[in-house]
Order: sequence, then C-alpha cells, then structure tokens
Amino acid sequence: MELFNVYPLFDVNIVKGKGCRVWDDKGTEYLDFYGGHAVISIGHAHPHYVESISRQVAELGFYSNSVVNKLQQQLAGRLGRASGCEGYSLFMANSGAEANENALKLASFHNGRKRVVAFKKSFHGRTSLAVEATDNPRIAAPVNQNGRVTFLALNDVEAMRKELGKGDVCAVIIEGIQGVGGIQVPDAAFLQELRECCTATGTVLVLDEIQSGYGRSGKFFAHQHAGIWPDIITVAKGIGNGFPMGAVLIGPMFTPRYGELGTTFGGNHLACAAALAVLDVMEEERLVENAAQVGGYLLHELGKMPGVKEVRGMGLMIGMEFEQPVKPLRDRLVYEKNVFTGASGNNVLRLLPPLCLTMAEADMFIERLSEAL
Ligand SMILES: Cc1ncc(COP(=O)(O)O)c(C=O)c1O
Repeated sequence: MELFNVYPLFDVNIVKGKGCRVWDDKGTEYLDFYGGHAVISIGHAHPHYVESISRQVAELGFYSNSVVNKLQQQLAGRLGRASGCEGYSLFMANSGAEANENALKLASFHNGRKRVVAFKKSFHGRTSLAVEATDNPRIAAPVNQNGRVTFLALNDVEAMRKELGKGDVCAVIIEGIQGVGGIQVPDAAFLQELRECCTATGTVLVLDEIQSGYGRSGKFFAHQHAGIWPDIITVAKGIGNGFPMGAVLIGPMFTPRYGELGTTFGGNHLACAAALAVLDVMEEERLVENAAQVGGYLLHELGKMPGVKEVRGMGLMIGMEFEQPVKPLRDRLVYEKNVFTGASGNNVLRLLPPLCLTMAEADMFIERLSEAL
C-alpha cells in the first residue's frame, strides 16, 4: 500500500527531538520554530513528560468513559486553575476539529438555533461543521456546504451587530488569534463588543484557542488580553504536547445531559497523563511568562528587519508578512540554515516555536533568518 498523497513534504526525516531542537536521520540538528504546527508546548521529549506517559501506559493506557477516571477530574481542576477558568467544566475529545464540532453542537442544543457566524480567513478544522465554518471553499466538499455559516470581516463591529441582531444566530466562532489566516489579532474592542452583542442576542460565543491558547500568546488564552469571558473555549495542540487531544471548556450556563456528548477515546488515561505532565512543566518552568518575554523580544527584533512588510502577533505566535511568496525562504531556512518555520497563505512566515524557547535560541533564529534573507 502507498500513502494517500495529500501532504507537500520537506524532504527531511525527523527522528529525534529535545526542547526546541530536532534532528534528522543523518544527525543534522534543526532549530524548531514551527513546533510541529503549534503542537509542541513544553518542548520535545521533556523528561517529566516522557516519564509520566511511560509510567501511565505501563499501568493503564486506556479504559472507557463508562467508569470513574480520577485523572480526568485532576486535569479539570488543574486546567481550571492554570487558565483562570475555574467556573467552567471540561469535556475531552481527540483533536481540534472535534473540539469545535462539540462546541457548536452544544451551542445548538442550548439555544435551538442553526446558524453560525465565523470570520473571513478563519480556520476551525476539517470535519463537517468545523470545515463549513472555515473560510476556505477548497477544503470543503459539497457535502460540507450547507449554507449554515455566514462569514464576516474580522473587527467589523457594524456587520457583526447587524448579523447577530437578526436573533437567529446559534453561535459565533472566532480564533483567539487567527493562525492559518496569517496571524491576524482581533481588536480587543471588537472582542468586547462581540461579547456584549452575543449576550444581548442569546448567541453563544465560542473562542477557538486551539492554536493561540495554552500560553502561546503570553497569557493562558489569547482572548484574555481583551478581558472577556467566552461561553465556550476550545483547545487542542499544546494541551498534549504531541499526544492527540482536544478539549472543550464549557461555561456555567450549560447544563449537561447524559448522552448529549460522547467519544470513545476522548479523555483516556494516557491522554490525561500527558496533559497533566504538560501543566506540571508549564507551571514549574513558567512557560506562559517565558512566551510573553521571549515572544516580546522576538516581535521587537523582527520588526526592525529590512524587507519585511509587517510583523504581527503576540507571545510566541508571530507572523512576518513579505511582499513576495515565502516558500523559497522557508526552503532556504530548512535546507541551508536548518530552521523549521510555518507559513500562512503564500506571503506570511508563521513562527510557532515551543514555549520553552530561550533568548539564545531567539537570537540564533534572528541570525539565521537574516542570513537566509
Ligand atoms: C485555530 C484552529 N482550529 C482548529 C484546528 C483544527 O485542529 P485539528 O487539526 O487538531 O483538528 C486548527 C488546526 O490547525 C487550528 O489552527
């Protein structure tokens, strides 16, 4: 059997990782400014993470959601405290798309409505309603196009008020910072207006923090920079540092009903052990603060670089927009300078390093990028 060929690949076989570095099968070391697509939060192969998962799998890797799982309860408590969202409850799934599906489903169960508002350039995943709420018709199959989602321009208060004012919108889904869309940060004032308008119209506010959350922006959640409280928050990526996991943080206005949501694998023992180890390390090594500090430095330094149209972002979620396509630059960075980076669209270089990035590694990146430019 051959692989179903849907991924354009760098011709590099990564076999080992440690902190913010990865190595290929020939022993070449790379600086990881991509974090495996914002997934690596605490760094590759952290000893505490390795030990926690190894211990758990030797004890019990999986049992179903039909029995008490104390690790789930521990994780809910720990995540509540770490994020400041202690009044929310937790439902666990296996990926970001699945977290968003559950969030939108819950919103619709709650208010009985069917329409969703999302934003231009949004990305919420590749499953049914998540991909319909993603502003990219090329990845939505005809079966996903059901006319239930209206896309508005980000930060357009008037358009948002008008749409929600119709009174039939089930949920608004918005990224804390748009990632795939090019590191677009919503205005704090827009998020505050959106919060008010959702409350006034009975619309559920869903914050997709799958890429921008878990400390990446320099606060636990990116929307916390605007001081708002969403009704539902979705997370994935950094929660498990590579162990596949997603979760929904559900505000106090929702009352659960048996059978309303469910999953075979979500919140299994091994996933919870991974997520608990991630929180241990984030707290112990103060990684949210580190993301704010090293990210702030990077943003400042990258902003001074010649030939860059705009530098955007917060913490360790940074986009560098160029006039020209970034593909040749990314190739040079990988093959000549041994640095992995991401992209958004054609012209934005997307930087999503692990949150344990040091100042020395930030400087190393700046030097290699300057040379590559
Ligand atoms: C903001 C956002 N939401 C949802 C998703 C989908 O997550 P997953 O690929 O785990 O389904 C992504 C993935 O890139 C994302 O960036």
